Amino acid sequence: DDLIAYAQALPKAELHLHIEGSLEPEMLFKLAQRNKVDIPFKSVEEIRAAYEFSNLQDFLDIYYQGMNVLRTEEDFFDLTMAYLNRARADNVRHAEIFFDPQGHTERGVSFDTAISGIVTALSMAKAQFGMTAKLIMCFLRHLPEEDAFKTLEQAENWLDRIEGVGLDSSEVGHPPSKFERVFKAARERGLKTVAHAGEEGPPDYVHEALDLLAVDRLDHGNRSLEDDALTARLAKEEMTLTVCPLSNLKLCVVDAMTAHPLKRMLDLDLRATVNSDDPSYFGGYVSDNFKAVIEALPLTREDVKTLAKNSFLGSFLSEGEKRAQL
Ligand code: ADE
Ligand code: ZN
Repeated sequence: DDLIAYAQALPKAELHLHIEGSLEPEMLFKLAQRNKVDIPFKSVEEIRAAYEFSNLQDFLDIYYQGMNVLRTEEDFFDLTMAYLNRARADNVRHAEIFFDPQGHTERGVSFDTAISGIVTALSMAKAQFGMTAKLIMCFLRHLPEEDAFKTLEQAENWLDRIEGVGLDSSEVGHPPSKFERVFKAARERGLKTVAHAGEEGPPDYVHEALDLLAVDRLDHGNRSLEDDALTARLAKEEMTLTVCPLSNLKLCVVDAMTAHPLKRMLDLDLRATVNSDDPSYFGGYVSDNFKAVIEALPLTREDVKTLAKNSFLGSFLSEGEKRAQL
């Protein structure tokens, strides 16, 4: 209990959060009515009951369906503001937020509509309560690399407000190598790079993310532990892993929270962090994720402190900004 309260009170950064995955059933229902979008649910309870997944694809099907209610700039603003306020309550001082432009452009909502609403909320949170945030746009890996290039083009006028690019959606069958050229183009524009790897995909995909995409940070990375040489390399390179415990449980990446590799990662000197991924779908925000691992794993007070510290070390804040937080 003591350790859970300690984790809640510590200043933290969140480095793995899909803004569309913070769409709570209540807001989904409200936006469906506001925008007159048909949804196959009659109540908030029915929506919540549909959130049972046996793998990543199960979840993604519902996640892409859910974001269909996001239509206007105001919708993206409301969504982002709700997340920032909720994260603030968990003492999240800095957030690096993913969004999926292709999840919107492919249904006729423009890149500009989505990003305008998001960045307005980010500025307001900074002004109102001093919370800082950076934006990372993800490419959907189940789509062709050519579509990712089109998305990079649409981002051209926004590059001063986009910190980096990421890679998400269905992992197996869509290795990082498929996106080598577009990641190179992103780096040439001064963008940071991250990628989901080793969530369901094999350690080879983690190797590719490092060698072919030159990622600055690795999202999930769980299956890296199957490869000892890779694990040693990640430790040596001080590669940050954005681990998402409740997500891993809900998507059956682990069989039980007691089997979660987070404690092993820390003992192997990996720079692991705790994040919520898609909090409205997986049952909790950052503090809920800390609570879940504290209850299931033999984490010490030092471990919890390290996890919070790692979240700032692994962030894209400047060295000076990191020092101010640590
Ligand atoms: N999109 C949103 N959440 C994701 C996850 N955990 N893995 C891959 N793609 C995602
Ligand atoms: Zn994710």
